[in-house]
Amino acid sequence: MSLLRVENLSKSFVVERGGEVRHVNVLQNLSFTVPEGGFVTIIGPSGCGKSTLLNILVGLLPPSAGSITVAGHTYNGRLHPGFKRRIGYITQNDNLFPWRLVFDNVRYPLELAGVPLPEQKERVGELLEMVGLAEFAQHYPHELSGGMRKRVSLIRTLIYDPPIILMDEPFGALDAYTRTELHRELLSLWQRTKKTILFITHDLIEAILLADRTILLGNRPASVQCEYEVALPRPRHLEYPLEDQQFTELYLRVLKEFKR
Ligand SMILES: Nc1ncnc2c1ncn2[C@@H]1O[C@H](COP(=O)(O)OP(=O)(O)OP(=O)(O)O)[C@@H](O)[C@H]1O
Ligand SMILES: [Mg+2]
Repeated sequence: MSLLRVENLSKSFVVERGGEVRHVNVLQNLSFTVPEGGFVTIIGPSGCGKSTLLNILVGLLPPSAGSITVAGHTYNGRLHPGFKRRIGYITQNDNLFPWRLVFDNVRYPLELAGVPLPEQKERVGELLEMVGLAEFAQHYPHELSGGMRKRVSLIRTLIYDPPIILMDEPFGALDAYTRTELHRELLSLWQRTKKTILFITHDLIEAILLADRTILLGNRPASVQCEYEVALPRPRHLEYPLEDQQFTELYLRVLKEFKR
């Protein structure tokens, strides 16, 4: 069953400069589904509209046309308040609050929801432990490395337990070693918690490595160029995927399509 369904979604921005009005078409007739518990990646060139798509899915931007269905509830623009907590969003620039300690960043969603402080402390503690950051609870975000900040963003989303998680190029700026570590952590978390993940990237290896299915978007205005089922067995070779023949075959097949 698909938990998330996007149908004929289009978006154009109206840009006005010096009295001249222009319509910039960014997304055009985009349709795809994400099955419950699935890991779907979306890959597309820079500027094709990937972040715009996620912003529409969480209701930060209204679409120009088309609709989105989450768990059988269809909306086109305004996300039903009951659904806000069902979609976690890890944005492209991690938006941790610089003035709050790690502990206070992670507990923020619980604070908003009015959860009592002792329970907040317990849940933050468990999650910090899970990602190996327990000793950094009393640090500020600027005192962390890029990979640590990504872990904090991830657990700040996990803390309110949304069934769907959208991730916008979360590991783009990290070194290869840290990125592999985070891939491992994310996949293990996904398998344990059965979350539904929609993950944006512009790295083809990452897109195939993580996914059950990968969706290729064309240049702006973006529409779905093609979709690939990634039937590679798990656990996958996260460190040297190109040494795996099955992986490489699929990679080359998608790469040819990507370069068109
Ligand atoms: N508020 C806005 N007003 C006008 N144009 C916008 C607005 N937001 C985004 N755009 C345009 O929409 C296009 C897609 O932007 P978006 O950020 O979604 O791309 P992206 O695929 O996420 O790129 P990247 O991979 O670099 O993050 C760009 O051409 C951008 O200039
Ligand atoms: Mg983007």
